[in-house]
Amino acid sequence: MSQSAFAHISRDQLPALVQAMPKAELHMHIEGSLEPELIFALAQRNGVTLSYPTVEDLRKAYAFTDLQSFLDIYYAGASVLLKEQDFHDMAWAYFLKAKEDNVVHAELFFDPQTHTDRGVPFEVVIKGLHSACVRAREELGVSSELIMCFLRHLSEEAAFETLEQSLPYRDLFIGVGLDSSERGHPPEKFARVFARCKELGLRLVAHAGEEGPAQYIIDALDILKVERIDHGVRCLEDADLVKRLAAERMALTVCPLSNIKLCVFKTMKEHNLKTLLQHGLAVTVNSDDPAYFGGYMNQNFLALLADLDLNAQDAYTLARNSFEASFVSDAVKAGWIAQLDQTFASFAASAPKA
Ligand code: HPA
Ligand code: ZN
Repeated sequence: MSQSAFAHISRDQLPALVQAMPKAELHMHIEGSLEPELIFALAQRNGVTLSYPTVEDLRKAYAFTDLQSFLDIYYAGASVLLKEQDFHDMAWAYFLKAKEDNVVHAELFFDPQTHTDRGVPFEVVIKGLHSACVRAREELGVSSELIMCFLRHLSEEAAFETLEQSLPYRDLFIGVGLDSSERGHPPEKFARVFARCKELGLRLVAHAGEEGPAQYIIDALDILKVERIDHGVRCLEDADLVKRLAAERMALTVCPLSNIKLCVFKTMKEHNLKTLLQHGLAVTVNSDDPAYFGGYMNQNFLALLADLDLNAQDAYTLARNSFEASFVSDAVKAGWIAQLDQTFASFAASAPKA
């Protein structure tokens, strides 16, 4: 769509436009969608004792100072997940939120090691998640794929073991990612694992440049050969890298509310998303761990509208980027982009002509 098509869309219309526009979510850890209420319900169902007496006490603990302070609570929350049905129920609850926000496609991260290290078999995790993905397609019309993440604070050997466990279920996930504590765990630690995943035809992504330096983004590209960078907001510290990311149309899956909650930026007004867009980068908006960071997809957009002066053109670009950066076929992308164009055209048509 041409830029002039957006000229009449007013600021007042933007929240409704953001709600109405179809979009894809490319950076969401399914374990990070576990709401406190569901943590308590699953704890009761499975006879797990939590160290917080009430939902409110647990919620109060969500005052993070950095990535590690969040991860400690996030892994504790995941300890209530034991059975296939638990994984299904968690993912289903996410899909209901996705539907409300007009997320038409989600590529979801899951962390098998968080579960297999507690004795929950890989099969239980992936079957529960997969059945929710199938149900979301059938009952909600929401499409999805799974991306298996390796925990970077664990060893290369542990990642290889996880890859081995996953192979009988190779057709149930499309790719691999790298998450958990970034600092001190550089991309090269997983060079051989990612090389093997590439040989297996898996799609490759990695968290880089969230808390770690711009060099980790370069290494994720050059050593791990990733196709998207998760977060990547610290790329602005390296002007050559910014030029490269723009030239390659390398997608950054940015998570605004997460970045504020984990103190990557002090306030949303200081977030660099608008600057990233101005550099011509393929930025997308995502919720990361919505149950912990104060909101799902549209709440991330609304926070950006409130504090970063986003306009209709920016909203269009962000939604379009989410489809272009997704791992679906070109034909499917084109279908969603046509729907996006239609949404914007109808808002432009109903806008007051000044
Ligand atoms: N960063 C790194 N690892 C994670 C995150 C994150 O934001 N969420 C869940 N695991
Ligand atoms: Zn993440």
